[in-house]
Amino acid sequence: MADFLRLLESARQVRLHAHAPYSGFQVGAALETPGGAIFTGCNVENATYGLTICAERVALVKAISESERKFTRIAIVADTENPTTPCGACRQILWEFGGDLEIVLANLKEVKGVYRLADLLPLPFDGRILGEKT
Ligand code: THU
Repeated sequence: MADFLRLLESARQVRLHAHAPYSGFQVGAALETPGGAIFTGCNVENATYGLTICAERVALVKAISESERKFTRIAIVADTENPTTPCGACRQILWEFGGDLEIVLANLKEVKGVYRLADLLPLPFDGRILGEKT
């Protein structure tokens, strides 16, 4: 496991790279592998709005493209008093590879909550259902 503080600090640092000129809402994510490696991502907005990519998905696709397939934990950081939770699309995409990830939500000063992905995405659709064709 990566050091908890290092994971949080990685999410806070990568948040500063966010391209968020439309919302002004910068998000950083740091995804941890079982071996302790960290893959980071920030949100990347687009003038068409709908093509915006969330920080969590940027971190995940970076890791997948580096041949990582298993993850244990993700830290998500935004400058909000209440926890910034991953959107529905990110929950689904994290589930594809992350399984029951631990999700650490933090702001610039402190951790605001620790959750499991299974609790944030009950009754997920996944490959098991595709395998149940009759
Ligand atoms: N956003 C993320 O990157 N992750 C989240 O968990 C929530 C939302 C981004 C998308 C968009 O660039 C901005 O935050 C406002 O929705």
